[in-house]
Amino acid sequence: MSCSGRRVARTELDGNGILIIDEDEKFLADAERMFEGGVATAASLADAQRALEDSDVDLVLLGPTFATEGGVKDAGFLVEDDPGMAVVVVAGTVGSTLLRAALRAGFVDVIEAPLDPSKVADAMGHAERLTKRRASSSAPVEPFAAPHREGRVITVMSAKGGSGKTVTATNLAILLAKTHDPSRVCIVDADLQFGDVCLVLQLEPKLTIVNAAHEIDNLDESLLESIVIKHSSGLSVLAAPLEPAFSDEVTTAAMTEIIGRLRHMFDYIVIDTASMLDEMLLSLLERSDQVLYVLDMDLPSVKNAKLALETLRLLKFPSGKIHLVLNRSNSRARLDEGEIEQSLKLKISAAIPSDGMVPASVNEGRPVVESAPRSKVARGFESVLKLVLTNETNRSDRAGKRRWF
Ligand SMILES: Nc1ncnc2c1ncn2[C@@H]1O[C@H](COP(=O)(O)OP(=O)(O)OP(=O)(O)O)[C@@H](O)[C@H]1O
Ligand SMILES: [Mg+2]
Repeated sequence: MSCSGRRVARTELDGNGILIIDEDEKFLADAERMFEGGVATAASLADAQRALEDSDVDLVLLGPTFATEGGVKDAGFLVEDDPGMAVVVVAGTVGSTLLRAALRAGFVDVIEAPLDPSKVADAMGHAERLTKRRASSSAPVEPFAAPHREGRVITVMSAKGGSGKTVTATNLAILLAKTHDPSRVCIVDADLQFGDVCLVLQLEPKLTIVNAAHEIDNLDESLLESIVIKHSSGLSVLAAPLEPAFSDEVTTAAMTEIIGRLRHMFDYIVIDTASMLDEMLLSLLERSDQVLYVLDMDLPSVKNAKLALETLRLLKFPSGKIHLVLNRSNSRARLDEGEIEQSLKLKISAAIPSDGMVPASVNEGRPVVESAPRSKVARGFESVLKLVLTNETNRSDRAGKRRWF
């Protein structure tokens, strides 16, 4: 059976072509009930091997009995015998060790018990994307993808909380996903304590950057691929830790390594950050092709921006990479734009107006560029996209002529 022949492409979930393997009779009975009897079942790996001979099974659900490193290894023959087979492990708890073992075996995904149709459908969607990714990476000519190169890192920063980093980063990432191959765009939530990219995009991550950091010595593309979650736009999201206490588990070295890996997997990596000019942020900036400094229209923001930008100048950070994005540009407490530019020694490169639709979109979990693409504020985010794309072109013109503070 070929990869593209996998049942994963079907739109309706029924039991035909599915084999469920587990030693627990109750698990099998529950699963049969869920699929209304349409599935095949096996109580052991030996039974499964027999059941697979001359069958049209293309999706195997490996039950919790086998959701261990050893169990996965023993079941490895499922893919060895038929490389087109999609195997999904159903585990009591999804941990990175199990995930890693499953991916090493060539399985598609690990989902959490109890089994339900939406989880199976999600896993099948994942299998389909994986199939596409594998097919495109082995294809001699990729019609849609850009020529092979390292992805561009765009870091969104501000030295003051609440200035609009997350809304800017998420709307920019969605726009990049809308205007490019969405499977080549990723957003990383590097606000390790209070990251809310997933909240703004209405996603509920199970695995986060913490899992990637735990596996840092063995981190490869397939593992990262299974840790990122997909937004409905096709955008990949590497989520922040689920609790602030876990933030310590992601070291600066781990973050750097993760970004380095992502560069090989995506064309654009947008990084949302915390308002803290610390070692982590400096190391992210060092690895960024472009830095978007989001400036809110008030005096404390301008004061903090001045301090942060001066620090970066002292550190000899290349000024050509930093672009000033003015947020709430039409706010009532309007400051003089010329004075801001003079004070910060930086031109304002893009502007986003203030609009009640922004907080509403945050609460709704749908960025404005999706919910109100024709609005003024969405146009503001489009100006940020344009800025990013224009500077990408300019970069090659400027090659070899780096500008320093
Ligand atoms: N242009 C805008 N118009 C109206 N409201 C906005 C605008 N930009 C941001 N906001 C609102 O301001 C709040 C803060 O925005 P956001 O979360 O993007 O800031 P942040 O810099 O990421 O904050 P933090 O430092 O806490 O991570 C949000 O509730 C958002 O809805
Ligand atoms: Mg934020």
